[in-house]
Amino acid sequence: MLVSATEMLQKAKAGKYAVGQFNINNLEWTKSILLTAEELKSPVILGVSEGAGKYMTGFKTVAAMVKAMDEELGITVPVALHLDHGSYDGCYKCIKAGFTSIMFDGSHYPIEENIEKTKELVSVAHAMGMSIEAEVGSIGGEEDGVVGAGECADPDECKAIADLGVDMLAAGIGNIHGKYPENWAGLSFETLAAVQDKTGVMPLVLHGGTGIPEDMIKKAISLGVSKINVNTECQLSFQEATRKYIEDGKDLEGKGFDPRKLLAPGAEAIKATVKEKMELFGSVGKA
Ligand code: 13P
Repeated sequence: MLVSATEMLQKAKAGKYAVGQFNINNLEWTKSILLTAEELKSPVILGVSEGAGKYMTGFKTVAAMVKAMDEELGITVPVALHLDHGSYDGCYKCIKAGFTSIMFDGSHYPIEENIEKTKELVSVAHAMGMSIEAEVGSIGGEEDGVVGAGECADPDECKAIADLGVDMLAAGIGNIHGKYPENWAGLSFETLAAVQDKTGVMPLVLHGGTGIPEDMIKKAISLGVSKINVNTECQLSFQEATRKYIEDGKDLEGKGFDPRKLLAPGAEAIKATVKEKMELFGSVGKA
């Protein structure tokens, strides 16, 4: 069931668990994530970066695929189709294409401009019944060409953006996209607590979910994180399983070259990763 992310995140905030956002790249990714969410009776958010949208030939294609798949698979759990780290133009494209949720990442603008653009997009998104995520501070590392310095968010700026009526807020707390370096200092729980203090019931978003130790994930949820984004970890699971299939020579046996066989271990590996995360985030049975 395609819905905005508003209600599922408010429930998660009140119930002290987090809903996973899993980024999609193609049909296999989408199918694996939807089937796992349904099996575990968990709400789920499908994240689409601008790069992945372009790869899948455009946001219209993505929205049509997700809507049709949700219907054909008989998915009953709440599913939000969400733009990840959207530009101003990208947000408008997704609003038109039929997404149910957008993220406007104005973190690289001066705060006044971030506020102005976010405010405009909040009113447009809400008029369409869509949810909207905003960002303050920045997520370190690189994701599909979006590069962040990784500075921690200013809690007062977070309050200013939260007051615009966004449905979820991503605040930089030392988190990084992709694999964490050996010398990573960990999440800044001090920043998270200060942001939570200023923003109250606002569902907070933790980007860079790949490779964050379990105890830190649990502590972040206890401090108000209600949405956790995972991208790289599904890519690594898919890669590892696909590599094994080929290294074991399975593609050379019989009809092992059939793409439906070749891609199957990777698709199963994504399911296992999504299951593990949903269990850790506490969203199982919450649909
Ligand atoms: P990872 O790729 O580090 O899991 O981050 C995902 C993310 O934050 C998407 O916005």
